[in-house]
Amino acid sequence: MTLFSPLTLRSVTLPNRIGISPMCMYASREGFVTDFHVAHLGRFALGGAGLVIAEATAVHPRGRISPFDAGLWSDEQVPGWGRVAEVVGAAGAVPGVQLGHAGRRAAVREPWRAGAPLDETDAAVGHGPWPLDAPSALAAGPGHAVPAAVTAADIARSVQDWHDAAVRAVAAGFRFVELHGAHGYLLHSFLSPVSNRRTDAYGGSPQNRLRYPREVVTAVRSAIGDGIPLSFRLSAVDGAADGLGIDDTVGIARALAAEGVDLIDTSSGGITTDRSTDTRVRRGFAFHADFSRRIRDEAGVPTATVGLIVDPVQADRLLDHGDADLVLLGREALDDPNWPHHARAALGDDSHEGWDVRFGSALGPRARTLARLAAAGETPLSRFEG
Ligand SMILES: Cc1cc2nc3c(=O)[nH]c(=O)nc-3n(C[C@H](O)[C@H](O)[C@H](O)COP(=O)(O)O)c2cc1C
Repeated sequence: MTLFSPLTLRSVTLPNRIGISPMCMYASREGFVTDFHVAHLGRFALGGAGLVIAEATAVHPRGRISPFDAGLWSDEQVPGWGRVAEVVGAAGAVPGVQLGHAGRRAAVREPWRAGAPLDETDAAVGHGPWPLDAPSALAAGPGHAVPAAVTAADIARSVQDWHDAAVRAVAAGFRFVELHGAHGYLLHSFLSPVSNRRTDAYGGSPQNRLRYPREVVTAVRSAIGDGIPLSFRLSAVDGAADGLGIDDTVGIARALAAEGVDLIDTSSGGITTDRSTDTRVRRGFAFHADFSRRIRDEAGVPTATVGLIVDPVQADRLLDHGDADLVLLGREALDDPNWPHHARAALGDDSHEGWDVRFGSALGPRARTLARLAAAGETPLSRFEG
């Protein structure tokens, strides 16, 4: 049961190897989290996850994916997140947050409105669009606005934004910080030659394309101190012609680890929204595990893997097989927030250890009653038979 062994990163110990992947909920108001976030993230902690990573949280208002994204660009946003961190921590999970800036992919609608770029109908109700930031003046795909190529002064200000948001994350009580460096958002757009065509010190060679992400990592590390683990979500492959491949990503991971990153959260894709040129990774079970394994083995940095991890034995074997140090659940956890508790039972431990005592003390006797009825041949439908 490697899945239920602790994982220590810096001075923080996750009680097990199951994390909840960051998932935007589009439920914030002007960047402020709402009661929804407390309930939504709290139930994953009550469900037994060792780590709960809150959604991509913008370090600047222009870095919001949609008008309904959460933020940490202002001190006023700290208390709301403080409630989330407190509830998650009190339930026994490590509270984490993903800091992000959507770059040239910002200013779009929610996924259930097709994620389309904001237009005048959104503007009519006060929802953007706002100007986009990117390394080069190249649109993310059809229909997206052309971003402004940021200046060196913009970059310095942006590094400070990440720093300040990280300070606020710690003030809110988060004990794990992840930087969103995947899915075509600002950090990723600097890393990739598809979106970064700069000719200054922030573009051109792989080293130069790494410069801004490294500066962000250094700034965030100084903001969070030595004790808090820092994760970086990478797209292992860009999923576009002439984009980054896994060999490039191994090098990037190695460089980020040298800069103070403790975990590479391995995802993929997103550098373009153009479906005619987009080469998405096929969605099979554990579809990022091979990438995660290569980064772990070749860059020598702990990794998390995510993507259609749906079965407790599958999750346990991924760890035993050396594919990752941590498994993350996204949609599986939306479907079943108690997945970690159910996984523990499925792997042979039916002690209800790990459940909140209020639930566990009730569920133990229930399980024994159900076992007795099963042994007696009684089913829920027995009363309707015969
Ligand atoms: C509703 C939703 C919102 C998401 N938001 C984010 C996000 O904020 N940051 C991020 O890095 N990935 C985000 N993702 C991707 C997930 O974290 C995860 O990598 C992906 O869903 C694959 O894992 P799964 O198969 O377990 O769902 C989101 C996915 C979903 C379904």
